[in-house]
Amino acid sequence: MSKVTTLHEFIMDRQAEFQFSTGELSRLLSDIAVASKIVSKDVRRAGLLENFLGAEGTTNIQGEEQQKLDVIADNQFINMFQSGGEVCGIASEENDNFMPFKSEFSKKGKYVVLFDPLDGSSNIDVNVSIGTIFSIYRRVSEVGTEATLEDMLQAGTEQVAAGYVLYGSSTMLVYTTGKGVNGFTLDPSIGEFCLSHPQMKTPDTGRIYAMNEGNINICESGIKEYIETYCQQTQPGHERPYSGRYIGSLVADFHRNLIKGGIYIYPDTTVDPEGKLRLLYECNPLAFIVEQAGGLATTGRKRIMEIKPERLHQRVPYFIGSKTMVEHAMGFLK
Ligand code: AHG
Ligand code: MN
Ligand code: MN
Repeated sequence: MSKVTTLHEFIMDRQAEFQFSTGELSRLLSDIAVASKIVSKDVRRAGLLENFLGAEGTTNIQGEEQQKLDVIADNQFINMFQSGGEVCGIASEENDNFMPFKSEFSKKGKYVVLFDPLDGSSNIDVNVSIGTIFSIYRRVSEVGTEATLEDMLQAGTEQVAAGYVLYGSSTMLVYTTGKGVNGFTLDPSIGEFCLSHPQMKTPDTGRIYAMNEGNINICESGIKEYIETYCQQTQPGHERPYSGRYIGSLVADFHRNLIKGGIYIYPDTTVDPEGKLRLLYECNPLAFIVEQAGGLATTGRKRIMEIKPERLHQRVPYFIGSKTMVEHAMGFLK
């Protein structure tokens, strides 16, 4: 039997490669793994537990109805970050404002984490894959003080690590620290994430497109043209058109395309003039991962990670996936 590498071992081995590493980022990544195991356990049993499924009865600042599990996952991650000591503050999709941690212990933390605690809320109650997305930055404010808005509003190029957890047919954690992408599958029998997808690379092209096509007539005409005259037509040398696949959980759609090759599009529409997906919690972390895997993430016009964020909950149009496919789709935009 081949040797199993746990996520913890992997993080420790990687840390040894950095000469002056203090181990703080390693501890933070380990904390995220622990929190996501707890969330995974809750997700797996949600239908059996009281007060886990359904709407919380509140809306977030973006006007979206919060689900009970959104709030449970949000609290789980925040508690972990607050007690870990590596993080001085967080921003999350489910909180109106960013949260500087008040204790002297946390103020010494070097990092901030921006995250989407539960992605794919509309799929929670119907037993379809959902996820968590996170993005880690080094603070720009002074260590020992409270975290600031400036710490949160850094361009994606400044990320030191990013990842996601997919609560799918198995639970997987995929992350990068800028030296490639590695994927770990949770082995429920031992409660450990184990390396299952070393050095992930995304195919340069693929045959899957993912878009909420209900929006096809409320987005710019170039996208309709790309979908209808290209994706949905049989191209020379192929037996059939592309396959349309849309789960409605970004993490799940992204993960499938990362492995198989494909493109995911969430454009700006007349209803969501800036697009729907959040730059800080969704777009930047997955952009970091896709680029590390050889793919591309843009707004259709410019590279996602170079956008200087202006607001916490800023949204952007999103084209992400296999490099050749994203470039090709961008060519249809006027
Ligand atoms: P969240 O559940 O975190 O609010 O994110 C939902 C996002 C994303 O996961 C998904 O791909 C997209 O919204 C689906 O939007 P539509 O329902 O408009 O297709
Ligand atoms: Mn989301
Ligand atoms: Mn969410």
